[in-house]
Amino acid sequence: MTLPTRTASEPLPAFPAGFVWGTATAAYQIEGAVSEDGRGPSIWDTFSHTPGAIETGETGDVACDHYHRWKEDVDLLRELGGGAYRFSVAWPRIQPTGRGAVNAAGMGFYSRLVDELLDAGITPVLTLYHWDLPQALEDVGGWRVRDTAKRFAEYATLVHGALGDRVPMWTTFNEPFCTAFIGYAEGRHAPGAKEGHGALAAAHHLLVAHGLAVTAMRDQQRRDERFGITLNLQDITPADDSTEDRAAARRLDGFINRVFLDPLFAHRYPQAEAEVWPGLTDRAFRLDGDLGLIGVPLDFLGVNTYFPSYPVAGEHAQPDPTRRTAGDIGVGEAPPEHLPRTEMGWPVEADIMRRLMARLRAEYPELPPVYITENGMACPDEIAADGVVHDQDRIAYLDGHLRSLHQAIEDGADVRGYFYWSLLDNFEWARGYAKRFGLVHIDYATLARTPKDSFAWYRDMIRAQRGRDTPLSAAKAASSRSWTSSS
Ligand code: FCB
Repeated sequence: MTLPTRTASEPLPAFPAGFVWGTATAAYQIEGAVSEDGRGPSIWDTFSHTPGAIETGETGDVACDHYHRWKEDVDLLRELGGGAYRFSVAWPRIQPTGRGAVNAAGMGFYSRLVDELLDAGITPVLTLYHWDLPQALEDVGGWRVRDTAKRFAEYATLVHGALGDRVPMWTTFNEPFCTAFIGYAEGRHAPGAKEGHGALAAAHHLLVAHGLAVTAMRDQQRRDERFGITLNLQDITPADDSTEDRAAARRLDGFINRVFLDPLFAHRYPQAEAEVWPGLTDRAFRLDGDLGLIGVPLDFLGVNTYFPSYPVAGEHAQPDPTRRTAGDIGVGEAPPEHLPRTEMGWPVEADIMRRLMARLRAEYPELPPVYITENGMACPDEIAADGVVHDQDRIAYLDGHLRSLHQAIEDGADVRGYFYWSLLDNFEWARGYAKRFGLVHIDYATLARTPKDSFAWYRDMIRAQRGRDTPLSAAKAASSRSWTSSS
């Protein structure tokens, strides 16, 4: 696929002063070292080792070996020159069974990473949960049960207690949609369940866990810190103007966007839910007071967005609404044929940034400032004879989406930063290592890192946009903590 490209003679317009430029990764996708230093198994270890679960039969056992090569990776970040780096902490490194005392070796790893980032002048942006639930908690119900929300708040308190002196920006969850619905309804992600009620309960318990964790972290907050959540939000346009396709679009919007946006930012459960899940009416998992807990004011919203949706009305896999999984909402996709597709099969349309931000502003007046915490493209990257990856399509994708984001800001959206997904090629969940999103190429045989052309483009663009931004005070604590030097 070839996207139209712009040349260096057309630099991006200037983003507002203080705009944060960064990249993002997630623990299971890059770390490897799955049984080192006391780490317990997570649902992704179990799932990736299940025959047939991962398209390529691969696992995250080694991944990018970031657990051992993290210094080299921070050197890459230094060279890139962005002001921030978004990474996630693996819960099973901190509490191997999801409860109980801190595993000092696990916490020590993240503590050293945070110190190294700060030494490099890079603000650490920490995600507490990027999908790797300790398997021991899944064994007693996982996100279907409310107790997991309490366990999560305890885990958040431990990580925040240890790193809150140096990490200024915290997200509770990455894409709770994927955990609840791809994990518990569609079964394409860990734990691979295909449920109706269980998936709806999971979505709710994730929100409860978010509220409990933010409240607990604020209670022990010692300095200026920001708390938020990252949602994957979808720009949705009915494929045509028929009543059926408009209804499909409403269902999809309820399923992906409103299920989280409404309780978080509008003090209500999603208005469309009776349309989305007509047969699934049991909401016993909702307790009085939950909306207040979930709607705790946030300092920011992280938005991950990659591609547009053009829904059409489709068949339900299960005709009986009471027996459907929560992912069986009778919606298909029919994107305009002229849109190019990425290696993931996702249509490319840069204008999603502007449209999505406009919609959020119009419908959620209480929305806090936004950071784009993920956006990026998988390309068929290969190292060319000259030793470089010439990923012109990725550069065009970045250029287009950033122009659209700039337009959103001009139109009045309060967007404070952008994190490209991802710094490194990595384990793309059920799609395995074949899908490469990185600014840096990984040779999985040697684990050699090779910055791509897009890395140079992003670095030069950041330099042109004012150099390095470190907008959040992230002073390193004077006193080192006991686990800093452990392991
Ligand atoms: C998002 C995930 C991230 C990565 C990208 C491509 O849904 O948060 O881990 O897999 O998609």
